[in-house]
Amino acid sequence: MAHAVGIDHRILAGSLLALSTGIAAYSSFKLWSLKRRCRRQQNDVYETQKSLHEYLIFHYGNKTEILGYDFGPQDALDFPKRCADMCMQYFKGKEGLPSRAVDVGCAVGRSTFELCRLFDEVVGIDYSQSFVDACNLLKDEGKMAYYITTEGDLKETLEAKVDPAVDRQRALFMQGDACNLPLDLGQFGCVLAANLIDRLRTPQNFLNRLGTLVAPGGILVITSPYTFLEEFTPKDKWIGGYVSKKTGKEVTGFDGLKQNLLKHFDLIHTRNMPFLIRETARKHQWTVSHVTVWCRRS
Ligand SMILES: C[S@@+](CC[C@H](N)C(=O)[O-])C[C@H]1O[C@@H](n2cnc3c(N)ncnc32)[C@H](O)[C@@H]1O
Ligand SMILES: *[C@@H]1O[C@H](CO)[C@@H](O)[C@H](O)[C@H]1NC(C)=O
Repeated sequence: MAHAVGIDHRILAGSLLALSTGIAAYSSFKLWSLKRRCRRQQNDVYETQKSLHEYLIFHYGNKTEILGYDFGPQDALDFPKRCADMCMQYFKGKEGLPSRAVDVGCAVGRSTFELCRLFDEVVGIDYSQSFVDACNLLKDEGKMAYYITTEGDLKETLEAKVDPAVDRQRALFMQGDACNLPLDLGQFGCVLAANLIDRLRTPQNFLNRLGTLVAPGGILVITSPYTFLEEFTPKDKWIGGYVSKKTGKEVTGFDGLKQNLLKHFDLIHTRNMPFLIRETARKHQWTVSHVTVWCRRS
């Protein structure tokens, strides 16, 4: 009897030890995954409120809201609209192409909505769930309130609005990865990738996909300031902005595009296009994008 009780005690002690080890392991696992989740969210600049509101004013802000001065780079305003205009200008008059466009890396959707003026169907794809949520709210309501930073903690509330002349039902927004696009998207008469390629982890995957994404005879518009950064793209995946180890020659972003696209596309137009991102009432980021327009060979 006494012997049996002794065993029971050992078993009890053993299971208590196992249980507390288990609890400790479980709680440290929870803490670790929580920390990891926070870190991932902090790392993803496009998931923050700050960037959501900066993109809302970048896409939907008017002249006074973005640049409240009678001087400054006025020709840098309305960049997402000018991107869509480029697409429509080069698509117009072409026959037998699907009346479908896709805006890859659509952010908060201004170009996507602008493309609805011409195309029957426009797909807007972005990696950021918070951007896609904003797009869907704008699609459903036609407007959305947001705030911008004036200076420090001071804020001002604004409203983003889609032109009522746009048939918003033609737009379809989805969260997705440009480097791993769904295979069932079909083909498009026009593909827009505005300021996207230097933000991708594996830009090559996206560029390789374009040969099948654009319908034969269709238009591809790429804009990029070629700001390659290791923060977004590991250096061995950069398509430009480096000196080639093989040839010793400089490779620019434009060189990288030509190397990847000339197999399937003709280059039909290039130009420089400025844009302006407002950070505060007195601080703006002025950048010049390189626009290349390509036509998929039939
Ligand atoms: C510099 S912003 C440009 C946004 C918009 N096209 C414009 O011109 O204003 C880059 C956008 O690409 C999105 N993005 C980044 N990586 C992506 C990926 N792998 N697939 C799809 N979108 C991505 C970001 O969330 C962001 O909206
Ligand atoms: C810009 O929007 C503001 C509201 O934020 C409005 O008061 C102003 O009239 C608008 N300006 C222009 C030029 O449309």
